[in-house]
Amino acid sequence: MSDYVLEMKGIEKSFAVPVLKGVDFSIKKGEVHALVGGNGAGKSTLMKIMTGVYSKDAGEISIGGKAVEINSIHDANRYGIAMIFQELSLIQTMTVAENIFLGEEVTKNGIRDTSYMNKKSKEVLESLGIEVEPETVVSTLSVGMSQMVEIAKAVAKDAKILVLDEPTASLSDSETEHLFHLISDLKEKGVSMVYISHRMNEILKIADSITILRDGVIAHSDMVKNMNLDSIIMHMLGSGEGKKFDWVERSYDETAQDLLTVEHLKVNDNITDISFSLKPGEILGFAGLMGSGRTEILETLFGRRRMQGGTVKLRGAQVALKNTQDAIKAGFALIPEDRRKQGLVLIHTVKENAILPKVSRLCKSKVFVDEKRANAMVEDNVKQLNIVTDGIHKRINLLSGGNQQKVVVAKWLNMNPEIIMLDEPTAGVDIGAKAEIIDLIRNFADEGKGVLFVSSELTELMAVCDRIIVLFDGKITGSLSRREIRAEEELQHAIQQEC
Ligand SMILES: Nc1ncnc2c1ncn2[C@@H]1O[C@H](COP(=O)(O)OP(=O)(O)OP(=O)(O)O)[C@@H](O)[C@H]1O
Ligand SMILES: [Mg+2]
Repeated sequence: MSDYVLEMKGIEKSFAVPVLKGVDFSIKKGEVHALVGGNGAGKSTLMKIMTGVYSKDAGEISIGGKAVEINSIHDANRYGIAMIFQELSLIQTMTVAENIFLGEEVTKNGIRDTSYMNKKSKEVLESLGIEVEPETVVSTLSVGMSQMVEIAKAVAKDAKILVLDEPTASLSDSETEHLFHLISDLKEKGVSMVYISHRMNEILKIADSITILRDGVIAHSDMVKNMNLDSIIMHMLGSGEGKKFDWVERSYDETAQDLLTVEHLKVNDNITDISFSLKPGEILGFAGLMGSGRTEILETLFGRRRMQGGTVKLRGAQVALKNTQDAIKAGFALIPEDRRKQGLVLIHTVKENAILPKVSRLCKSKVFVDEKRANAMVEDNVKQLNIVTDGIHKRINLLSGGNQQKVVVAKWLNMNPEIIMLDEPTAGVDIGAKAEIIDLIRNFADEGKGVLFVSSELTELMAVCDRIIVLFDGKITGSLSRREIRAEEELQHAIQQEC
């Protein structure tokens, strides 16, 4: 009998180009196995092959030592394999219990036995310590809770192997803690998990073993206890030097006229009085917990939410921001937190997305886009941001998650805005690309433009910002010059209101 609950050997897969080039990947019982690698390395593809979403071109999969064919999600479920996708897949209009029993409804005398399904769901949820009522409609749940329900659904189906693809990308700190408890409970129950993440601190904390993919081949596989941050990054990038986010002290004219002045901005009943200013060339960070109001403030400045009070001035002149058109015209750009909903048109190509807000400016006449210029510009974006794609005419939903995010960044940089607002721009982006995005932000500000930067990753805020505003429950509770912050812990304390 093999040590492994599941083994993949010599897996190959090509789309237009080879994506997996003979990959071996094995999972032990009850382990958390981290799968890491750069954007487009092939992590999601490998897991989609294991869960029957994609078919493989070559290679073998065996479960408990026996060769198997997994040709559909249904096959995978029968073997006890389930995947929690980067994009969640619960049906929003149904209740928690209906989702848990989806496709396997229990009937009594020909009618759906709702009370039985509610009762059984409650048992599963309780056994996992998930506090939600089975009758709750899924659309009313937070992202974090939806994810827990999705895991409960897999556990109810008796999953032995669970794949979590970047599960914490949109979770708050407390939701992340809760997820980690759930993972260790499942481990105790003998469930094996594959954990994909770009957050190395999470991997060092919860994973037992680690496999590093680089450009479709295994770069390294080991126990996590034998690895550290530097060695992981080294294998990911394939070179001796890891990229670090060091602070580069920048300078801008602190006596210049404000580029942006926000006074007594009222966003809603919770965020009622926000005032701050931004100088040309300045990078201003917003730190705070999830729900502290960071995203709402940016959305209001972008005309996506209605301003309920206060004034916004650009170079001293008041501007009306009634809708996003107004904001774009005034020179604002927003790279939103939820790229899938707001940032991209998924059925369009890389090029179409990258030139979207700019189309009117590339028109020779009213109808024709200057294709040559547009192609050159997008080719340039692809090179500059290292976007992994086999061409600018590829449909964006076929790119890996992190590469989609890079296209969103490119799209707004192409507009050449006066003020760029970034909301968690590096979520789901690999360590190399994070450093590239941070460089781009610096270059942008060096041209005398303004940057508002929201990130939950303090290391990033500390690396790139000149000044950091701390928000707590809709109020500004502090404004720190980067020079004054000596350690990340100080910022952490300010955010948590611990001192
Ligand atoms: N259905 C598809 N059609 C064409 N190409 C695809 C398809 N799915 C994935 N690819 C390509 O395969 C490569 C690997 O993508 P994959 O999603 O596996 O990367 P990843 O390691 O999960 O990256 P990320 O960290 O950004 O999520 C990418 O270059 C992607 O464009
Ligand atoms: Mg992926």
